[in-house]
Amino acid sequence: MTIKISGTGRALPEHKVTNQKLQELVETSDEWIRERTGIGERRISTGDTVVSLAAEACRKALEMAGKAASEVELILVATCSPEYLLPCCACQVQSIIGAVHGAAFDLNAACAGFLFGLDTAYAYLQSGLYKNALIVGSEVLSKLVDWKDRSTCVLFGDGAGAVFVETVPEELICDNGRKAGIEAILQGADGAKGGILSCQERPVQNAFLTEQEMPDSYVHMNGQEVYKFAVKKVPACIQAALEKAGLTVEDIDLFLLHQANERIIRSVAKRLKADLSKFPMNLQRVGNMSSATIPVLLDELNRDGRIQKGDRLVLSGFGAGLTYGATVLVWG
Ligand code: ACO
Repeated sequence: MTIKISGTGRALPEHKVTNQKLQELVETSDEWIRERTGIGERRISTGDTVVSLAAEACRKALEMAGKAASEVELILVATCSPEYLLPCCACQVQSIIGAVHGAAFDLNAACAGFLFGLDTAYAYLQSGLYKNALIVGSEVLSKLVDWKDRSTCVLFGDGAGAVFVETVPEELICDNGRKAGIEAILQGADGAKGGILSCQERPVQNAFLTEQEMPDSYVHMNGQEVYKFAVKKVPACIQAALEKAGLTVEDIDLFLLHQANERIIRSVAKRLKADLSKFPMNLQRVGNMSSATIPVLLDELNRDGRIQKGDRLVLSGFGAGLTYGATVLVWG
């Protein structure tokens, strides 16, 4: 049996916001943003929602896989920016695309959410409970950032990416001799560091409590602490996942990292002693879309023909929680 990704898709809002445009909102500069983050522009919703973007990305992934929505057995939406707490985004996506036979639920592991969703779907498929799944990372972070806070508003963008994974009864051996499928998964969390990157929902409030002041509901981040965490944890996590699979850095064709920051990606490449050309980036064009960054990048590379059957990939992300993970797979 092989579990393979047979379709990818993405959806981005039309509206581009350049660094120059942000200079009209906060005291910043194109030079500062590019130098510290690598980001040049991002897409910002003018009405697109987590659900509408997710549904579009799902339709494209299904089209590529040649599957009808009615064949989908499981839908997982990873998001930390839903418009509704109830119903969950996955149920709304199910309704829009007409995946009437699919179970559906959301998952929040922030920027590592898509990866955790992929791993969860893999475990379900591996167990035989389902034969296929749509996994989506979708975010409209633009509604969670304070557009007066220059230290956060320049970093994020909106968008969604999706993959369709399915079980194939036989083993798929690629031309280069590699067996397609997921080879290793590593996930972790460091909840004690949760305060470094947070965004508060409504506090406890009910008829039996005296009224409290509502907290602001914006993203707050200690950028330097996130940076320190990422540059240590991501390479360590990738190394551990590779060890689990009995592989080394040299065995990997492409590293698809969470697109938070170019300096973090460069530092990870350096620590792993891997060539930077193996670390494709799109953050220059789309910014940090949290859970959507990895599946959007995956779809871009897949559609551009930059991923070939038999290529071995590492997908690795980190996010609020703090959460982190790495998945090693051979593209089939
Ligand atoms: N434009 C101009 N100046 C700015 C801006 C801005 N947009 N933002 C902050 N500054 C100023 C600060 O006010 C500060 O000024 P001061 O020295 O007068 O006080 C100065 O720049 C330095 O601020 P730092 O916060 O120390 O800047 P730093 O070099 O750490 O860069 C950054 C900030 C880019 C956020 C960095 O910490 C970083 O890369 N962190 C990683 C976190 C990250 O990428 N998070 C993404 C989201 S989290 C995730 O995806 C999991």
